[in-house]
Amino acid sequence: MTRITGVYREVGASGERAKAFIALALPVSDPPLRLAGELARLHRDAGEAVARLALAGVMVPDAGWFLYGFVRKEAVISSQIEGTQATLMDVLTFEATRETDQPEDVEEVCNYVSAMEHARRELARSGGLPISTRLLCEAHRRLMRGVRGADKAPGQLRRVQNWIGGSSLMRASFVPPPADEVPGAMGALEKWIHGDDALSPLVKAGLAHVQFETIHPFLDGNGRLGRLLITLLLEHWKVLSSPLLYLSLAFRRRQSEYYARLAAVRAEGDWEGWTGFYLECVMEAANDGVRVARELFAVLERDRRRVAQHKRATVAALRLMDALPRRPVVTAPMVSKALGVTAPTARKAMDVLADAGVLKETTGKDRDRAFAYGEYLEVLMGKAGGSLREVQ
Ligand SMILES: Nc1ncnc2c1ncn2[C@@H]1O[C@H](COP(=O)(O)OP(=O)(O)OP(=O)(O)O)[C@@H](O)[C@H]1O
Ligand SMILES: [Mg+2]
Repeated sequence: MTRITGVYREVGASGERAKAFIALALPVSDPPLRLAGELARLHRDAGEAVARLALAGVMVPDAGWFLYGFVRKEAVISSQIEGTQATLMDVLTFEATRETDQPEDVEEVCNYVSAMEHARRELARSGGLPISTRLLCEAHRRLMRGVRGADKAPGQLRRVQNWIGGSSLMRASFVPPPADEVPGAMGALEKWIHGDDALSPLVKAGLAHVQFETIHPFLDGNGRLGRLLITLLLEHWKVLSSPLLYLSLAFRRRQSEYYARLAAVRAEGDWEGWTGFYLECVMEAANDGVRVARELFAVLERDRRRVAQHKRATVAALRLMDALPRRPVVTAPMVSKALGVTAPTARKAMDVLADAGVLKETTGKDRDRAFAYGEYLEVLMGKAGGSLREVQ
């Protein structure tokens, strides 16, 4: 199926000229997007997988349980699509010790976490910002904080022409709209998001992602913010009660198809092709999420029993065990603060957990030691693997 998708306008930058693409605003029209046949089946299957994930999220004793790990895993993987090398262990160790040997990569991942947390806080706060250009700008400011983002106009829609793929404007694989079109296009996207398109929230979130990427409103970070937008929309529309569905891993596994599907929407108006791809990714991500949540739950239960049965078990040791999902890498001062116990009590609790095989020292140093719940992190990263550096 071919649709008219937008218009081209000639633009110039650094002495070169090219045709920039100005997409039609959503909804998809002529013809509208209909989920029939294979697409309808995919939509139903993806919906069921997401419902199972929602259930896994409420199965655990406390909603915050998986969140800490899931959010950071997504931040690591979404940043890896951009080429960032930091691993989950690097990031968690930095959060515990404030020390790292690759400050820029770790900063980038921490910025992603901070952008996501800020946006979720705003959405949850009464009187906070809704899902809007302004909220995305605020998330962008956080994402671009520090060394690498300094010259990327943090927090602002771009004022210059950009392009994707290729070393120059003329060689680019895609030239997004001229800067003066960006505010209007973002306004139209925002209006559509809050409008009454009859498509399911799940599908709508996928379309919003494409439109956001096609507008490419920022100088950098559009991929990460566009993927974050999906997460925020799914939570906002109550598809999930907490943000447990993360698509970056599925997109990364099929990265060239991901880019090709985006390009085909612009070139041919192939929204059906995109939606099929996206729903497959949703299904994969939801199934992954369910499996990881179950495995984490099992590991935690087993280890809790081990600690409880340990001959030197203390109340503090059990409380530490219960706190680990929220902080899988810890230091002695952190534990003593979090549990409100003295340093010797904290150290004793950590000793018990180390002796029970739950915690392992990761820094190899005598002082400022950090202890990681290695197996938990391995299960969390799952097949994303390779991204978790060996513990010891
Ligand atoms: N042909 C295309 N049309 C529209 N968008 C595209 C196309 N190819 C890639 N993209 C989007 O552009 C993003 C890259 O843009 P940008 O560098 O601003 O984002 P980023 O967050 O820094 O990078 P990344 O997504 O690689 O982490 C890709 O992730 C993808 O979402
Ligand atoms: Mg980039």
